[in-house]
Amino acid sequence: MRNGRFITFEGGEGAGKSTQIRRLAAALRAAHAREVVTTREPGGTPLAERLRAIILAGKARDLGDFGEALLFSAARIDHIDRIIRPALARGAYVLCDRFADSTRAYQGARGGAGENMLTTLERVTLDGVRPDLTFILDLPPEVGLARAEKRRGQGGIDRFEGEAVAFHAVLREKFLEIARAEPERCRVIDAVKPEEDVAEAIFSACREKWPHTSTEEKKWA
Ligand code: TYD
Repeated sequence: MRNGRFITFEGGEGAGKSTQIRRLAAALRAAHAREVVTTREPGGTPLAERLRAIILAGKARDLGDFGEALLFSAARIDHIDRIIRPALARGAYVLCDRFADSTRAYQGARGGAGENMLTTLERVTLDGVRPDLTFILDLPPEVGLARAEKRRGQGGIDRFEGEAVAFHAVLREKFLEIARAEPERCRVIDAVKPEEDVAEAIFSACREKWPHTSTEEKKWA
């Protein structure tokens, strides 16, 4: 049983995903009778948040790309089982900050994990729970990293923000590759544009995908 709508937000550092998720959640809550659930990866459950802390502190780095991919996937399995699948079964919108495409991009960026292995891992991890719509917030890595730094202030740099700009440039390409391979699911959004414009591009893609589908749902604003 799956009546819900699963929307994921992907992209490099500092692309503005969390702001855009907040905006879309508010718009959906105002316009629809459906429940809206917002969540994030790695994380979303107590166990997955514990794994998040370990990974982002760099404590799993020595496992290598595939080892880290296994940890992200373990966290994802808990998140899917406890939060995402039940919410979709209730008919909710689930808006998730990062999901499986981040594993493909980040853990696949150096090529060490091997694309076939990552594809197989993704299949067994997701067990059919795939996003209906994925927004890839695209921007040059220098712009994203500068924004992330500003947001961070005095706080410490995390495991992946600390990678070189070259790594982030490969990430960007990886996300664009995913979008090219799955144009039905993915929408590339220019995240250099002002926040308002990005939000509008996201709303209109949702409107296009789900032009108000039932009488219980009011029209989009
Ligand atoms: P977060 O602080 O949420 O970063 P952002 O604000 O950029 O989303 O930290 C999540 C980090 O973990 C981010 O650098 C991307 C990385 N990541 C992976 O490497 N693989 C994954 O599967 C996921 C979900 C995240």
